[in-house]
Amino acid sequence: MQKSLFLDALNCKNFSRPPVWLMRQAGRHLASYRAIRQKHSFLEMCHTPDLIAEVTLLPIEAYGVDAAILFADILLIPEAMGIGLRFEEKIGPVIEKPVRSLADVQKLPGVEEVHSLSYVAEGIKKVLPRLEVPLVGFCGAPFTVASYMIEGGSSRDFRKTKEWMYRDPAGFHCLLEKICSWSVEYLKMQAKAGVHAIQVFDSWANSLAFHQFLEFSLPYLRKIVDSLAAENVPTILFCKGASVFASAIKDVAPSAISFDWNADLSMVRKEIPLPIALQGNLDPAILYADPKTIQREVCYLLDKMEDDPGYIFNLGHGIPPDVPEESVRVLVNTVKNRKSCLVGSLF
Ligand code: CP3
Repeated sequence: MQKSLFLDALNCKNFSRPPVWLMRQAGRHLASYRAIRQKHSFLEMCHTPDLIAEVTLLPIEAYGVDAAILFADILLIPEAMGIGLRFEEKIGPVIEKPVRSLADVQKLPGVEEVHSLSYVAEGIKKVLPRLEVPLVGFCGAPFTVASYMIEGGSSRDFRKTKEWMYRDPAGFHCLLEKICSWSVEYLKMQAKAGVHAIQVFDSWANSLAFHQFLEFSLPYLRKIVDSLAAENVPTILFCKGASVFASAIKDVAPSAISFDWNADLSMVRKEIPLPIALQGNLDPAILYADPKTIQREVCYLLDKMEDDPGYIFNLGHGIPPDVPEESVRVLVNTVKNRKSCLVGSLF
């Protein structure tokens, strides 16, 4: 691997322009993704090492971003546990056998079954020789993955998750423990296959009160970060609601924290000093705006984070599936050609 702005920024030692990559960059907004997806189901794509490699490369080819994210899904762990996962058009994930009690948890296979996810490691090995930028592996945070396993799919109010959390916190922790031990082994497998960094997605942390985040999410995030630090793999924590939980996440000492768009990152930097890197945090809806507005918002954020050696440009959440590729290209190119920020006529 040549010199990498992304790895330099993760180490808080980047003295050039900020690196840029985008969550969900390998997704449905890309025509090249939709063309492959016409021929294969989503899970088939996730299970096939050649397709993992091919789809991981698509956004690198389309935009020249500074890091690749592995093409996979946070629900592959529950799928490997045998809960019966399928993806339905316009609905999203559907889980046939949701987990709703301690007895259900005890029926889930132990961590020695992680080898059934080895197709992901095969995909990593296939893509690495074709990449000139670092590869980010990932998994879901135990709380977020648990919420899908309990609800049986996506949820607006997390009602069943919370019912269980209040009724039987000890049983709920057993589920979190099990997901966490699978996640640690799965991430070690990804690290051994060669990923350069790991991102943990706690997409639904914002559904928790502060003290609940401390009890039901943070200890498991800490376990994951510590286990990967022992393997010398940097970890990025993405928690929806990170600006509320920032002080607590800081104590876990990940390599970087990824913020959603509510936070003013330059103010966050006062609370989270180097050597923790900051990632984010443009509102993904900017990609529905016209090019000048996209450039203006990108420059506003770049100006705020100017000269920060530990800053990684990203959105505050994933790229929506229905935005034009041209808008993503404008965004990436604006970061890469920083001088366009100095052109007064844009504003
Ligand atoms: O480009 C990338 O970011 C890499 C691949 C990636 C996917 N999912 C591919 C995907 C990553 C990092 C994820 C993470 C993921 N998966 C999260 C956490 C991030 C977030 O968005 O909050 C979550 C919650 C999931 C679970 C999941 N996967 C849902 C709820 C859905 C359905 C909703 C949707 O967008 O369709 C998925 C499907 C999914 N995962 C797609 C992709 C490209 C679309 C599948 C399709 O082609 O139909």
